[in-house]
Amino acid sequence: MPAPSFYVTTPIYYVNADPHIGHAYTTIMADILARHRRQRGDDVFFLTGTDEHGAKIARSAEEAGRTPQAHADLLAARFRDLGSLLGASNDFFVRTTDPAHEGRVQQVLERLRASGDIYKGSYGGWYCTACEEFYPESELLDGRRDPVHAIPVEWVEEENWFFRLSAYRDRLLAHYDAHPEFVRPAHRANEARRMIEAGLEDLSISRSQITWGIPVPWDPEQVVYVWVDALFNYWTALGFARPGHDLTSRYWPPNVQVMAKDILRFHGVIWPALLMAAGLELPRGLFVHGYVLKGGERMSKTTGNVVDPFPFIERYGIDALRYYLAREVRFGEDGTFAEETFEARYERELANDLGNLVNRTVAMIERYRDGVVPADPGDDGELAGEVAAAVAGVRRRFDDLELTRAIDEDVWGLVRRLNRLVEERAPWTLAKDPARARELDQVLFSLAEGLRVVAVYLHPYMPESTAKLLAALNAPETAITEYGAHPGGQATEKLPPLFPKPE
Ligand code: MSP
Repeated sequence: MPAPSFYVTTPIYYVNADPHIGHAYTTIMADILARHRRQRGDDVFFLTGTDEHGAKIARSAEEAGRTPQAHADLLAARFRDLGSLLGASNDFFVRTTDPAHEGRVQQVLERLRASGDIYKGSYGGWYCTACEEFYPESELLDGRRDPVHAIPVEWVEEENWFFRLSAYRDRLLAHYDAHPEFVRPAHRANEARRMIEAGLEDLSISRSQITWGIPVPWDPEQVVYVWVDALFNYWTALGFARPGHDLTSRYWPPNVQVMAKDILRFHGVIWPALLMAAGLELPRGLFVHGYVLKGGERMSKTTGNVVDPFPFIERYGIDALRYYLAREVRFGEDGTFAEETFEARYERELANDLGNLVNRTVAMIERYRDGVVPADPGDDGELAGEVAAAVAGVRRRFDDLELTRAIDEDVWGLVRRLNRLVEERAPWTLAKDPARARELDQVLFSLAEGLRVVAVYLHPYMPESTAKLLAALNAPETAITEYGAHPGGQATEKLPPLFPKPE
């Protein structure tokens, strides 16, 4: 049987400014999911990229004194670089100014038009360029600022092409009824449902006063509304990610689309309606996470409270940042980025809980058994059962997209359990008594094998340091295997501290 496919996406990020920790968070969480599914043997496709058209980008390019394309090229490269620095294992990086994307968007627009739900009309409304979105007056702050960035909105009025979104109300609600896991967590599904029930206005899908965009195929005086252009990236990319191979039938529809709650309306309401109209299958699920906050507010360039991820990566290494974000900002909830909690977790959890456990284990195997993991004497009591329970937990959590609980409760529960094992069995005492050699063998085997399992399950979160640990245990495979899959007998290798004190 072929491996099941698993298609996971992040939003494509605006190239109006440099990436910050908020963008890093989404990419890291999606990457953790992608890596875990690869470990399970799935045929994974992980997509991320940049959103490069529209007024927001055109304006920021102008302010920077560049052409929109030069500006987009420069900033897209920064997002791409950040991705590699973060250790993102994306299979492709899509850019909406790629001519292949533009061509596929035009194709899909023709499909939309064929649905009969596109018409010409005129519209006037309050527009927020930072969101690239119209807002009804009732949602504005003090009647003049947008609810996401709290910056002034502008009155925009033009003749455009419209999508009859209002006609999709019942079909959308029926989809939510039939697929309770379409949007997770559940309270976000309710939020999306309320938006649909409140009544849907038709959507203007083109712009006449903007030139930085994809021409509407049947009316080149207009460009495609940037959100329509952007949403379809998830579909267009599969058509050109591998030249000569169309991956659409292999991966479509997405299994999980990850994003923050700021763009729930676009993904939970507009996106499924557009797909229905285009005759394309809907994603199996959206996962809507919370905000990374700084000083109590959503981190954003427009708000001006961004944290640059690069210095943290330089000082602590990429795994520390991945670990910190995955644990501190609970997947699905808001969480605060703060240097103090970063340092505290690094020291207490990474350097002490895990780092010391690794060092002690490798050092004891070196000292008492000449650096060879003892063969399993087969009497480790309850430990094997406990490990099995914990890893079954991790698997379930990943199925439920509980990426923080998986590391917080299951994996770290095992780390704590192994530390207790060291304290309770005191190998240094066993080593003094030759009659207890078998007991010592057992403890050392349990620690080495337990740590191997921990490293395998931690691998998606911390790919670099777990690869080092697995190499030191001479068990480099990262595919998921059970406790006991390595019967012992392998030589270990020295390894430098995984989480050294930063300079
Ligand atoms: N270009 C659109 C998305 C189009 S997808 C078809 C966009 N871009 S964005 O650059 O503003 O990125 C928004 C996304 O970046 C959020 O949905 C979230 O995934 C991530 N984040 C940006 N700032 C964030 C926080 N402060 N906290 C959490 N996620 C953050 O919207």
